[in-house]
Amino acid sequence: MRFNFKLLSIFLASPVFAYIDQPCYKGSQQGVCVPKYSCNSTGQTAKYERYAGSYPNWPCPNDPDDVICCIKSVTKLTTGETLKTPGVCINTKNCNLNKNYLANTAECPGSNNVKLCIPNSNKSTGGTTGGTTGGTTGGGTVTSSCPTVRNPNATKSGKSKAYESLPQIFQNEGGCQNMSGDPGNWYQGQLGYTCMGVTPQTGWTNRSYYNYALNKCSYNSVLFVKCAYDLNKDKFQEGTANLYEKLFGSIAGCTNLPQPAYFVCLDYSLNGPYRTKEVVANNPIGNRDSKTYARLLNSISRQDFKDAVANNSNLRQYLQGWMNRCDAREKYINNYC
Ligand SMILES: *[C@@H]1O[C@H](CO)[C@@H](O)[C@H](O)[C@H]1NC(C)=O
Ligand SMILES: *[C@@H]1O[C@H](CO)[C@@H](O)[C@H](O)[C@H]1NC(C)=O
Ligand SMILES: *[C@@H]1O[C@H](CO)[C@@H](O)[C@H](O)[C@H]1NC(C)=O
Ligand SMILES: *[C@@H]1O[C@H](CO)[C@@H](O)[C@H](O)[C@H]1NC(C)=O
Ligand SMILES: *[C@@H]1O[C@H](CO)[C@@H](O)[C@H](O)[C@H]1NC(C)=O
Ligand SMILES: *[C@@H]1O[C@H](CO)[C@@H](O)[C@H](O)[C@H]1NC(C)=O
Repeated sequence: MRFNFKLLSIFLASPVFAYIDQPCYKGSQQGVCVPKYSCNSTGQTAKYERYAGSYPNWPCPNDPDDVICCIKSVTKLTTGETLKTPGVCINTKNCNLNKNYLANTAECPGSNNVKLCIPNSNKSTGGTTGGTTGGTTGGGTVTSSCPTVRNPNATKSGKSKAYESLPQIFQNEGGCQNMSGDPGNWYQGQLGYTCMGVTPQTGWTNRSYYNYALNKCSYNSVLFVKCAYDLNKDKFQEGTANLYEKLFGSIAGCTNLPQPAYFVCLDYSLNGPYRTKEVVANNPIGNRDSKTYARLLNSISRQDFKDAVANNSNLRQYLQGWMNRCDAREKYINNYC
């Protein structure tokens, strides 16, 4: 499923990575990204959900629109056999083999990377992994030297890392727009405004991030975002920063990175937090200084874009825009400290 931030559209409006068969989540439930039609087949009695998610929380953000998160729990096999404890269809790499085993049954969609993960002896209870925890970003302490892993929350502005990253992410102060051609602006059948990438729906469902606006702006759910933005732009940016940290940064593993690596990580995560999570996990910051690490993340992100174009020439039209974005990150890194 794609994002649809208007302001980032050149960057995000296309499916970038083939993520078929990759793990996806609805809360703590785990599934796999597969085309919608394949989640369930005739004759099967499995419990399944074709979870499409909603902006900006797409479970399969890097995939085409017909790819959903298939969450499937199987008790009765098509062979007629009944399992004592249900198995789940997940990516084989996520099946904890200390507590479960894998079975190649007709139930699971996707390629051979997806199999039924069944609790041992189909007796004991086992679980899927997943779930994310988040939180708000801590405010920074002002620093003029480069932050390090020992003082990861220090910032140049004294504001939180996410807060100071937002203007750069939007390449401007991120105003509001109500273009009727942007589906993200429509909510409950009415046209509203997207402000700093926050659509009417996301803002309203996450209105607890904008406590200051609850009294004055709750009278109209569609216009809540615009009202909250007009009421206090600075508080709006603060709430939005916390929301981005929660919906992207914390999932991707950016939270404890020092600036300017945090900014690159957060910006990268908007293209799909699970890909960034993988990159950060496979390349921990270790003893690197924050600028070196920021450049490393940016170079991997750059390569991702090139790979995506190499694999799908239809994406070539976006390449220049993506490279410009990577160049802008480079500048931010160079100037940060
Ligand atoms: C999907 O599974 C249900 C049972 O949960 C079944 O009734 C339905 O026919 C299946 N759909 C398809 C397209 O086979
Ligand atoms: C489930 O466990 C039973 C024994 O309890 C075993 O005979 C059966 O093959 C298992 N089913 C699968 C699909 O592994
Ligand atoms: C930095 O901020 C995060 C998020 O608020 C917090 O979890 C973490 O403990 C802070 N780290 C330090 C070293 O203060
Ligand atoms: C879109 O926004 C402009 C400026 O705020 C406003 O004048 C206009 O009425 C809005 N359009 C619709 C259809 O609401
Ligand atoms: C925040 O918004 C996203 C996307 O609309 C939604 O999936 C999520 O449930 C919301 N979070 C809360 C706490 O409402
Ligand atoms: C591109 O294709 C290669 C080989 O088919 C594959 O290994 C790689 O993961 C693909 N990369 C992307 C970004 O889709």
